[in-house]
Amino acid sequence: MLLAAFSIWRILGLESDSSTHLREIQQLSARLVAAQEDERRSISRELHDEVGQSLTGVLVEMANLSTSIRAGDVAAVAAKADEVKKLVESSIGVVRNMALLLRPLMLDDLGLVPALEWQAREVSKRSGVWGRVAENVAQQLPDEHKTCVYRVVQEALHNYVQHAGTCNVAVTVKQEPERLLLTVRDDGRGFDPSREKGMGLLGIEERVSHLGGAFAVESRPGNGALLQVTLPL
Ligand SMILES: Nc1ncnc2c1ncn2[C@@H]1O[C@H](COP(=O)(O)OP(=O)(O)OP(=O)(O)O)[C@@H](O)[C@H]1O
Ligand SMILES: [Mg+2]
Repeated sequence: MLLAAFSIWRILGLESDSSTHLREIQQLSARLVAAQEDERRSISRELHDEVGQSLTGVLVEMANLSTSIRAGDVAAVAAKADEVKKLVESSIGVVRNMALLLRPLMLDDLGLVPALEWQAREVSKRSGVWGRVAENVAQQLPDEHKTCVYRVVQEALHNYVQHAGTCNVAVTVKQEPERLLLTVRDDGRGFDPSREKGMGLLGIEERVSHLGGAFAVESRPGNGALLQVTLPL
């Protein structure tokens, strides 16, 4: 009884000491859950709208196809087959993009630099501006570092597409004996980093500090943006 009473007393004391800390953690985890939920919503929408639509299209075309085959209309059969092929191709594209979003398999298969180059290429395809990756990464990096760099570049390029306006972007990764340096620079619209901070930049900060690294944003309205990350090796 005595021990229990003492434990309860200690626990209550500790609890009140750390109540502010706890509140911070609760807020953070609430944001994390919200972010996770957002991600799930977008995956679900993608699955429903893109993959579901295409597969329904395939089903309809297959029904048409069998009608045409029965009727012996060769030209119609060929046209329907082409239609089915297109629908399946678009589904494959969506599934591949979703898989990449969830886990960049490319990182494991090809390594960091090709994966970053792929990202830059995709961005320049979508937004009609160019992306460039310069590198100097010699030795094999720890898995955590590769994932961190990949995700940071993903968010930085996402921000560039969303916020920077039409301009150029350059990604550089440089390996030194003791550390890894990453920069993402654009010459676009710019912003005030002390006032504008959302989940994206916060997520970068968290990833980087988890690995004991440093993260800095240099930007002013009208003056482009520079993201710098240093990770100790
Ligand atoms: N490259 C950039 N050029 C201009 N403004 C930027 C750039 N990157 C970020 N910003 C500004 O900083 C804000 C915060 O960016 P952050 O990535 O944290 O959040 P977000 O992009 O608005 O939302 P989310 O990343 O969650 O989709 C943005 O809303 C935007 O105003
Ligand atoms: Mg963002």
